[in-house]
Amino acid sequence: MTTRSQTQESHRALGRGMKAALRPMAVAALLVAAGAAGAAKTVSGPIPYRVISNCAICHGMHGASTDYNLIPRLAGQHKAYLILQLQQFRDGHRADQNGNIYMAPVAQGLTAGQIDQVASYFAAQRPRFQASGVHHAGVKAGQAIFMNGVTSEQIPACMECHAANAEGVATFPDLAGQRYRYIVQQLKYFHNGTRKNVLMNQIAKTITVPQMKEVAAYLSSL
Ligand code: HEC
Ligand code: HEC
Repeated sequence: MTTRSQTQESHRALGRGMKAALRPMAVAALLVAAGAAGAAKTVSGPIPYRVISNCAICHGMHGASTDYNLIPRLAGQHKAYLILQLQQFRDGHRADQNGNIYMAPVAQGLTAGQIDQVASYFAAQRPRFQASGVHHAGVKAGQAIFMNGVTSEQIPACMECHAANAEGVATFPDLAGQRYRYIVQQLKYFHNGTRKNVLMNQIAKTITVPQMKEVAAYLSSL
């Protein structure tokens, strides 16, 4: 298990290596960064060129800022989870509609080293992703599903894997403060099987759309 501070520490080390590796591209990167996002300042060293050129337009330079709700927040998400998702988009394993359209072409253009680099970068961003302050109906009912599951429908408590604070660990994703519409959409994809994961496909099998919305209302409020 990697703690957040360990992740930050290893990222700082990686950042030092990256500085040398990226030197020839530094001028180009700075020009793009200046044009795209104003001050290119982060908590963890230089912004990888790939983030500036390939990710920022949709996910924001720090993995937090975009107005398009179906695009997930990435800031502070677990590195192991980010790597796994990029590999799955690349290999066509996460082939749900939005994944296929938006992420497969991006992920196919990344080397294994670049996947590691962009995952390290987004995992190290602080503050981690936060609730937007928009309220959706059903927070209380959603909290009950998250904490206790739905026994009559054999839906287990989500906290068993995603942790009581919903921040997950390693390849169990952080859900606390993730976008409402994105969460609902992913639960639909797990339910219809286009996003494949043995655990989540089973868990989302019997969940209803109102229950998806309730649990998303709770998670996006954290
Ligand atoms: C054209 C817009 C677009 C670009 C460019 C883009 N993404 Fe995405 N990204 C998305 C969308 C939309 C999704 C949600 C896909 C789905 O619903 O399965 C996503 C999902 C992801 C996920 C899964 C997150 C999760 O919580 O499961 C990761 C990781 C990710 N993107 C990383 C990146 C990285 C790294 C880059 C740059 C190399 C990038 N993306 C570029 C739109 C984009
Ligand atoms: C047995 C463990 C387990 C339980 C219980 C569980 N999950 Fe998951 N969940 C996972 C794993 C593992 C993933 C990552 C799947 C992947 O790699 O594609 C995941 C992914 C997700 C995602 C996608 C997040 C993203 O960023 O794309 C959502 C949303 C989610 N779970 C919601 C829930 C909800 C709601 C419940 C309770 C009804 C729940 N999970 C219960 C293991 C679990």
